[in-house]
Amino acid sequence: MKAKKQEIEKIYVPFLKWAGGKRKIIDKIKEMLPDGKRLIEPFSGSATVFLNTNYKDNLIADTNKDVINLFKHLKNDKKAFVDYCSEYFISENNDPEKYYQFRKDFNESDNTELRAALFLYLNKHGYNGLCRYNSSGGFNVPFGKYKSVRFPEDYIYEFIEQSKNASFKTQGFEKTFSQAREGDVIYCDPPYVQQNASKHTFKYHKGEFGLNEQEKLAELAKTTAQKGIPTLVSNHLTEFTEEIYKGAQMNKFSVRRSISCKGDQREKASEILALFTP
Ligand SMILES: C[S@@+](CC[C@H](N)C(=O)[O-])C[C@H]1O[C@@H](n2cnc3c(N)ncnc32)[C@H](O)[C@@H]1O
Repeated sequence: MKAKKQEIEKIYVPFLKWAGGKRKIIDKIKEMLPDGKRLIEPFSGSATVFLNTNYKDNLIADTNKDVINLFKHLKNDKKAFVDYCSEYFISENNDPEKYYQFRKDFNESDNTELRAALFLYLNKHGYNGLCRYNSSGGFNVPFGKYKSVRFPEDYIYEFIEQSKNASFKTQGFEKTFSQAREGDVIYCDPPYVQQNASKHTFKYHKGEFGLNEQEKLAELAKTTAQKGIPTLVSNHLTEFTEEIYKGAQMNKFSVRRSISCKGDQREKASEILALFTP
């Protein structure tokens, strides 16, 4: 069974804020995800798809070592670690001076437990849930100025429950693909291409996950499917993504996305889900 608790149709909410979270399109993703023994998510972020599916086994990976470190502490240390994290969520800590002190402590510490707890604190108290680092790897998101901040204990325990059947790895998508075996199903949610990106802009596009990475990923999805491992990829719908996902089964649709911290500033974005099958 891949769909979790279908009869209730509850949507499990990730406990982290994450750019590109998949909550709004989770039903469409679940419709297309084939059954299998193990789900592999090479670009987990806040792991919405993992939370809302029910594979026997899960490999959850991302290049962001802080999010994976936090997931590992939750899986291994459970309540003791949750209680420790909750200590940071007192109203006195929703304050710029405290925030910048904790951000400094986070950046200067090698202690994985402290870093995991502070990463959760920073994610919830920082500006717009952003996750951004400077060139030396220091977390540099400014204070979020929220009136109040809730400790997402319920969502955290849902995650811990689900994490019984998961292993978490900090690694790039190519390595994660190399660990796929027959019986696995892969869901990829890479950083999205810009909506106006086309082949034409290929040479000029810079960034950590440029058009050449998008092409590499599409190629890996194709070849992995040919080896018997179905692979679903989500992205913006553009001429470029339609081109690189050619040959896959595609579902194209629009979704309302928030483009700023003000809920009323929204725009419709076109999305594509491309399923490569054996
Ligand atoms: C769009 S987000 C995934 C959002 C996720 N589906 C969710 O619901 O929160 C893309 C993720 O890809 C990760 N990432 C970026 N480059 C990567 C790479 N080369 N290999 C693996 N992960 C990467 C980022 O750290 C980020 O968490």
